[in-house]
Amino acid sequence: MAARLLDGKACARQVQEDLASAVRARREAGGRAPGLAVILVGDNPASSIYVRKKRQTCEAIGYLSTGHDLPANVPQAELLALIETLNADAAVDGILVQLPLPDQIDAQAVINAIHPDKDVDGFHPVNMGRLALKLPGLRPCTPHGIMTLLQRAEIPLAGLHAVIIGQSNIVGRPMALELLNARCTVSICHSRTQDLPAMLRQADLVVAAVGKPRFVQADWIKPGAIVIDVGINRLNDGKLCGDVDFEPVAEKAAWITPVPGGVGPMTVATLLGNTLRAAEQRDSAIGG
Ligand code: GUN
Repeated sequence: MAARLLDGKACARQVQEDLASAVRARREAGGRAPGLAVILVGDNPASSIYVRKKRQTCEAIGYLSTGHDLPANVPQAELLALIETLNADAAVDGILVQLPLPDQIDAQAVINAIHPDKDVDGFHPVNMGRLALKLPGLRPCTPHGIMTLLQRAEIPLAGLHAVIIGQSNIVGRPMALELLNARCTVSICHSRTQDLPAMLRQADLVVAAVGKPRFVQADWIKPGAIVIDVGINRLNDGKLCGDVDFEPVAEKAAWITPVPGGVGPMTVATLLGNTLRAAEQRDSAIGG
């Protein structure tokens, strides 16, 4: 393999160690532990795994984590009422509703109900708007985590042509804004893009968030490119793989993220960073 590995697991561990010491210092100064409320609706197996990981990591670094597991058929009004309660709860700094939600629930209405100051996912229109305007705010965890991974590897980004595959609200759109804010030239590709391989061959930086196993082929990659794989796909044999055909792409790229152990751990670490930030900002707003 020619490429250098962008090791998200190691980077996330460092971020979490930094957060754990910030929380210890905060507690020693008489402050509260940051509190994260995690809401899981239904029993989607992937969501259950992600939520468990988020709660476990919270506890490992000294946060208070409260779980709210609701049945798949919960009425939307009940979920909105729970969010209202958590918005008003002084011990809760962050509220996370794991997506996707069942069909009877309007996910955007749920996101809109979370107070923007407690929106540690960064999905509320106020926080997405702040990101679009390059103003400080809570930033969506996966794109923000990717930026941290690139920054800690000291990879200069200004002037690169970044090509993102995927236009979701969770990854593609906020990723484009992050890279634009880092002074990249940004293209977003999606299912209607006419010649995806031709677009990718121009890319100095590729972010793949398509949800198709090993979709991105080595002959679409410019030699020396940076390749970020957001996909987590489960194969029939139970193994995980990303959206990038890892081994051949790693022969051409300069840098590449593995799956697992790349972007995923950075998403969790960034969620915890956002929660500490939300706690600090709420304290300063109430003069604590
Ligand atoms: N589902 C997939 N990614 C995410 C995420 O970052 N946050 C939430 N809440 N749900 C998700």
